[in-house]
Amino acid sequence: MIGVILSGSPFSVYDKEAFKIDLDVIRGKYPILGICYGAQFMSYALGGSVEPAGTREYGRANLASFDASNPLFKGFEEHSQVWMSHGDTITRLPEGFKVIASTDKVENAAYQAEGEPLWGVQFHPEVYHSVQGMLLLKNFVVDICGSRQDWSAASFVDSTVAELKAQLGKDRVILGLSGGVDSSVAAVLLNRAIGKNLTCIFVDHGMLRKNEFKNVLHDYEGLELNVIGVDASEKFFKNLEGVTDPEQKRKIIGRDFVEVFDAEARKITDARWLAQGTIYPDRIESLNITGKTIKSHHNVGGLPEEMHLQFCEPLKWLFKDEVRRVGRQMGMPEHLVSRHPFPGPGLAVRILGDITPEKVRVLQDADDIFIQGLRDWGLYDQVWQAGVILLPVKSVGVMGDERTYERAVALRAVTSTDAMTADWAHLPYDFMAKVSNDIINKVKGVNRVCYDISSKPPSTIEWE
Ligand code: XMP
Repeated sequence: MIGVILSGSPFSVYDKEAFKIDLDVIRGKYPILGICYGAQFMSYALGGSVEPAGTREYGRANLASFDASNPLFKGFEEHSQVWMSHGDTITRLPEGFKVIASTDKVENAAYQAEGEPLWGVQFHPEVYHSVQGMLLLKNFVVDICGSRQDWSAASFVDSTVAELKAQLGKDRVILGLSGGVDSSVAAVLLNRAIGKNLTCIFVDHGMLRKNEFKNVLHDYEGLELNVIGVDASEKFFKNLEGVTDPEQKRKIIGRDFVEVFDAEARKITDARWLAQGTIYPDRIESLNITGKTIKSHHNVGGLPEEMHLQFCEPLKWLFKDEVRRVGRQMGMPEHLVSRHPFPGPGLAVRILGDITPEKVRVLQDADDIFIQGLRDWGLYDQVWQAGVILLPVKSVGVMGDERTYERAVALRAVTSTDAMTADWAHLPYDFMAKVSNDIINKVKGVNRVCYDISSKPPSTIEWE
């Protein structure tokens, strides 16, 4: 161990269940960086004051002043944008601590214990929208803690393939493919390690994008993966009939998915392992150690128990940008590697209210126009993720001489690097005008298009 980062958490230092550690165990032995809750906790535990902020602060802020000579801020530029997400604030620092950065609203935005390698920052350097956050982390991890920087996609592929070979030997492995980057990269890695001992199962729950099932199966054939495609859309539609609650939808889809997957997996009687494309942010957001699950998503865990399969998650320590680098390193086609993320429950969580095949069709058509438009205008790679949401409202419009009373859709496009935080994409007006026009003219049943301009936090990327 060369240093300690105390991370953020959804708790306040005053919550009974809040994480606490004995700082004497690490203080003076390792460099320490507290982030958000971590910074508040250290300040509180060492004699400072933490109080509920007058207004909760979420989203962008600027470092109005900072101590440029502090090693944590080496190379920092003036007025750096940082990302805040906190309800409490540090109102008084412990004795012997000094302020090293402030924003307009938060005086103690960063501090250091004088003469000690112990820092706290109220903002989140780890998120993409903290513009120099990566530099701050590099200053801490590399310069202050002395870490080496020898991770590369090539070394990851070599070492992971070798580890998988050793771990799996001649065992049979089943993997659930979703069409997304993560499971596809995991499949190609495993294919390299164990070849035909890998069987992939790709379930169509009927709520994929337009023509997605067919197109993606075609891609997988090109990658020489051993894939079984299962069209189970009827079952999903039947069980989702009349369901409007978002978490209920996820649960039904999760359960049906397990059943369908299970039925296929059982046919591979000698399977020993279940591989998944789980990546690091999936595990953080689905983690329930705090008792505060943000959304029960990402299909983490929960597959055929009685089969006694062991889990194999070769990407579990990677962030999405690293997964893409690994995919490129293995020569996967760019359109597959650079695909936007897409939620497991698919369009089901983008149809607010109950789901019908007809609504899915409307949404697929609108979504297809938006996504194809982004590609045609060279904007696809500039956004992290985009999609259309079918709203449960109808509004009045006029087409030709006719009054219409039809549905509204919302377009959502965000920038991000890891989905933990996101900002709405500032797409060109001309592009939006064209997409709006195309959707209203071509998609029967839609007469109004809106654009979602909320950031995460406090909003999430998906509406449900
Ligand atoms: P939110 O909406 O939480 O989404 O900001 C963050 C990322 O996760 C995706 N997402 C899901 N993925 N199953 C998944 O596999 C789900 O239930 C689910 N819900 C959200 C979302 O598309 C975004 O990339």
